Amino acid sequence: MTGPAIPGLGAVSIRSIDNDHPRPESSSTWDDWGPMAPEVKDMVMERWLIEVTGDDGAVVPVGDLSAHVVWYGPTPGSRALNIGIAIAEPYRGRGIGSIAQRLLAEVLHARGVVRVEASTDVDNVAEQRSLARAGFAFEGIIRCAQARNDGLHDLQGWAHIE
Ligand SMILES: CC(C)(COP(=O)(O)OP(=O)(O)OC[C@H]1O[C@@H](n2cnc3c(N)ncnc32)[C@H](O)[C@@H]1OP(=O)(O)O)[C@@H](O)C(=O)NCCC(=O)NCCS
Repeated sequence: MTGPAIPGLGAVSIRSIDNDHPRPESSSTWDDWGPMAPEVKDMVMERWLIEVTGDDGAVVPVGDLSAHVVWYGPTPGSRALNIGIAIAEPYRGRGIGSIAQRLLAEVLHARGVVRVEASTDVDNVAEQRSLARAGFAFEGIIRCAQARNDGLHDLQGWAHIE
């Protein structure tokens, strides 16, 4: 699925990939996890590659998106998808994240998912602004939700509803 072009950069698109497909290096300060929970290997994640196609037709992978299911009850309508994103450092802050997250919300809504949600650290201002520009609405603080190497963190909860 292709979104609008960013002047001087190119058109932003996303496409579904397998879990073992190579993804661009996009580590950041938010990835200092510490020891992983053993159960996380059983978590089912869907993934998408974010690509930019320049005026010359060259396609550059610039980041990736993920989504995992969150159940809020036992009925089909209680199934939400929580998305995540990471962009390679040289491509951050140029509008790619907001376009890619909007595209993924549209892809998931087209599949019948009503609630597409995202959570981000209360200090991750770039992702908060990117989500707002992608049409997500801020819903509140999710307290003590994420443990990283330096301790427990509050998250902001955002959602894109259709
Ligand atoms: C967060 C991330 C996905 C956003 O994607 P992006 O393409 O960089 O974001 P966009 O360009 O769409 O929007 C960034 C917005 O944040 C602002 N911004 C960028 N860096 C910022 C910073 N360090 N502090 C404050 N604002 C910042 C930009 O000005 C822009 O706001 P605006 O639209 O009001 O001008 C990307 O920066 C990234 O991969 N960061 C590292 C990994 C990460 O944080 N992933 C999300 C974890 S929940």
